[in-house]
Amino acid sequence: MRTVDLIYRKREGEELAPEEITYLVEGYTRGEIPDYQMSAFLMAVCWQGMTEREVSVLTECMLASGERVDLSSVPGIKVDKHSTGGVGDKTSLIAAPLAASAGAVVPMISGRALGHTGGTLDKLEAIPGMRTNLSIAEFGEQLQKLNLAFIGQTAEVAPADGRLYSLRDATATVESIPLIASSIMSKKLAVGLDAIVLDVKVGAGAFMKRQIDARRLAQMMAGIGRRMDKRVQALITDMNQPLGFAVGNALEIMEVSQTLQNAGPVDLTRLSLELAARMIHLGKITETLEEAREVAQSKLLDGSGYRKFKDVIAAQGGNPQVLDRFELLPNATGMREIYSPRAGYVSVIDAALIGQASVMIGAGRDTKDDSIDPAVGVILEVKVGQKVDAGGVLCRLYYTREDGVEEAAEHVEDAFRISAQPPEERELILEVVG
Ligand code: URA
Repeated sequence: MRTVDLIYRKREGEELAPEEITYLVEGYTRGEIPDYQMSAFLMAVCWQGMTEREVSVLTECMLASGERVDLSSVPGIKVDKHSTGGVGDKTSLIAAPLAASAGAVVPMISGRALGHTGGTLDKLEAIPGMRTNLSIAEFGEQLQKLNLAFIGQTAEVAPADGRLYSLRDATATVESIPLIASSIMSKKLAVGLDAIVLDVKVGAGAFMKRQIDARRLAQMMAGIGRRMDKRVQALITDMNQPLGFAVGNALEIMEVSQTLQNAGPVDLTRLSLELAARMIHLGKITETLEEAREVAQSKLLDGSGYRKFKDVIAAQGGNPQVLDRFELLPNATGMREIYSPRAGYVSVIDAALIGQASVMIGAGRDTKDDSIDPAVGVILEVKVGQKVDAGGVLCRLYYTREDGVEEAAEHVEDAFRISAQPPEERELILEVVG
């Protein structure tokens, strides 16, 4: 079998046989197939897509590239949550502690920043000392003790996804339904889950721009889960404007802290509560979804979710005081305000442009080996629908290095549209699949 022939056949839109996909994934994971050939193959998949059979085989190969974590010694139903990628999307860090404090067991395996979207692992690592590379034994022990642990792909867990994920990020091959579906499902299934709640983002700041594509992605992931006997539920949610006000790793940890203390933005709080409720319900902590919503709300109001997050940070080597004393988090050294050119209503805040601006000042990666600057990002001062005065502050850009700031500021300015009339209200949760 020759890699170049498989790239050619996929480029021409042919379906590859299971052994051919296995050859590609195994060869790449072992380092025998070089990045440039895998990049070409990924680009061919972006253009030509994959059949259901190909996606299932790809997911299984990625899953088989590492160990399957056996959590059978941890009592309870294991339920996780994953987003397909958004801007300012820190719901995992709110929903998971809420669900865990209600009794759900949450083995959370997360990704890094991808394209213009943020990654849960990078956000967690903005907390000084926080380790996300727990061994499998440590992961299991922490779940027994706290019901919640955060890890990423390692050499042990879904290593193929780890390598493909960073390659896709640097080769403009992120926006593909089969590649996103297999990436998410392979790492989720590797940690022995029983159920998954998916947040499938749609809109300017999402990889899926149209609801019909988001629905296909949700259905594809639900199908992969079903074939492996897992319960999967997907919410399709709006990602036209950033979620909450904060975009950038340490800035988002600050907003998570405020939200877990019931002082967060309305949209972020609402979506996090709904995701937590669905995790609690799928985790069979309550009989009905309605009861689960009440439980999630009570865990927010009585501070249990907040305390749970602190305990988990401490258990993973981080300093939990960062949630009360933001000066202990990495802080930016420079700040630029962006002003409204006229009075009116904010009708658009393009989440993709805000995400790209954050990457330009260091919150994300341009190439797979780039490091992240945890301190930088954007804080919105307004949300869509709000009234602004001419010269009013629309947002603040936080940076530590001057290079990239000019271009980032232009992107941020372009992201805002100010109209004479208030825009139509948009639903945050658009659809439920599964
Ligand atoms: N999240 C993932 O884990 N993988 C993707 O491909 C996109 C979002």
